[in-house]
Amino acid sequence: MSAGMQWVREHLGPLTRSVIERDAGLIARQAGTDPPGLAIESAQGCWLVDADGRRYLDLHGNNCHHLGHRHPVVLAAALDQATRLTFTPRGLTSAAVCDAAEAISRHWPGGPARVMLVPGGSEAVELAMMLARVNTGRHQIVSFHDSYHGRSFGALSVGGRPADRSPRLGPLLPGCLHVPPFYPLPADRRGPADQDAAADLSLAALRHVFDAERDIAAVLGEPIRNGPFVPPDWYWPQVRELCDRHGALLISDEIPTGLGKTGRLFNTEHFGIRPDITLLGKSLGGALVPVAAVICHERLDAAADLNLGYYTHERNPFCARIAATVVEVIEQEALVGQVQARAAALRATVEQALERAGHGTTTLRAAGFMLGFDVGDPSESERHREARALRLSRHALERGLLLNHSRGGAITLSAPLVIQQAEIEHAAAALQQALEATAREA
Ligand SMILES: Cc1ncc(COP(=O)(O)O)c(C=O)c1O
Repeated sequence: MSAGMQWVREHLGPLTRSVIERDAGLIARQAGTDPPGLAIESAQGCWLVDADGRRYLDLHGNNCHHLGHRHPVVLAAALDQATRLTFTPRGLTSAAVCDAAEAISRHWPGGPARVMLVPGGSEAVELAMMLARVNTGRHQIVSFHDSYHGRSFGALSVGGRPADRSPRLGPLLPGCLHVPPFYPLPADRRGPADQDAAADLSLAALRHVFDAERDIAAVLGEPIRNGPFVPPDWYWPQVRELCDRHGALLISDEIPTGLGKTGRLFNTEHFGIRPDITLLGKSLGGALVPVAAVICHERLDAAADLNLGYYTHERNPFCARIAATVVEVIEQEALVGQVQARAAALRATVEQALERAGHGTTTLRAAGFMLGFDVGDPSESERHREARALRLSRHALERGLLLNHSRGGAITLSAPLVIQQAEIEHAAAALQQALEATAREA
């Protein structure tokens, strides 16, 4: 039996265990979710409930849960839409689709916009790459080492993590160039001075690529990298300037970070820059449906004959209604304006938990309601740090807190925009106890 299944057997209730065991015999295995960490029966607000009735504060949410789970207004819209119209065949439209496009583009900082709805984030990335190619007549896309943009072939090609780009998949797309990101890579993450040095290096590499290559269609990146990593203020304005000088487009992937998570509706607003294309996804579906969007400047809407967005669910009215409602709730409840102050409370409480658990020197990364830190020492092997992060996240689960742990010992906490102070305090207490339990085992 795998160590993961052993943990499931020893720590979870009988009903949860039996669902996980069924899953193991039915669902194709995936690294990182084999076996799944929990089997969830229901969810409400910031909480998940497993099959045995145990409750977990969801600070993972895959960044889909800005409004928590089953937000009453989103749920009411879904139920209303379900009683009237849930699908239209190709070639037809509906008011829900127009409402979604209006809501998504209303505050877009890139100018007059066109919107395409797509079934998920990877498809949004594909579509943006195609738009860049057909509009510029060039085919090279520059993106960043260590980046992640999804699992389709195009998205893997612009992604920058070697482990995701296995040679077993065969050749990926040609013309995908990678430069260092604006933050130190996980192996040698250090203090703020290094972050400026990393951003300098990244910009120098971008300049070099633009000088050396003549046919760059676009630069594609996350303005604030999920992790989170925030660049110096000067970084993106200079990238924008480089793109303008060389006639390339700037594609802003805000699939996990957009719609208010970092304190702005659109992340490019933090840096005062104008994107040519912005990608939204994840939370746009209100933790209810998979839906993503490509927002492009209207001048880029120049390839109708190619049917680039010819998806079966291109104008799905049910998904569109959810997307429109999510944006409306974020606006009506003025959630974005509250993020910075409320996220500061989350950050302070988590910092206190780290300190009390003896991790006071750990650097806590923060961008609005996204927090992240690394466990283990950079001198330890990546495998070792990963194992420690996994242990920490399991100790947190045992205390009713779901965190996200990923490569290289990175732990991220992604709080819904609707999180309450009592929930923040629960998160900090559970995190502190989980850190202490992990330290006792070391
Ligand atoms: C920055 C970024 N872009 C694109 C994607 C792909 O989205 P999806 O998983 O919906 O295909 C992700 C998913 O995690 C992401 O984080």
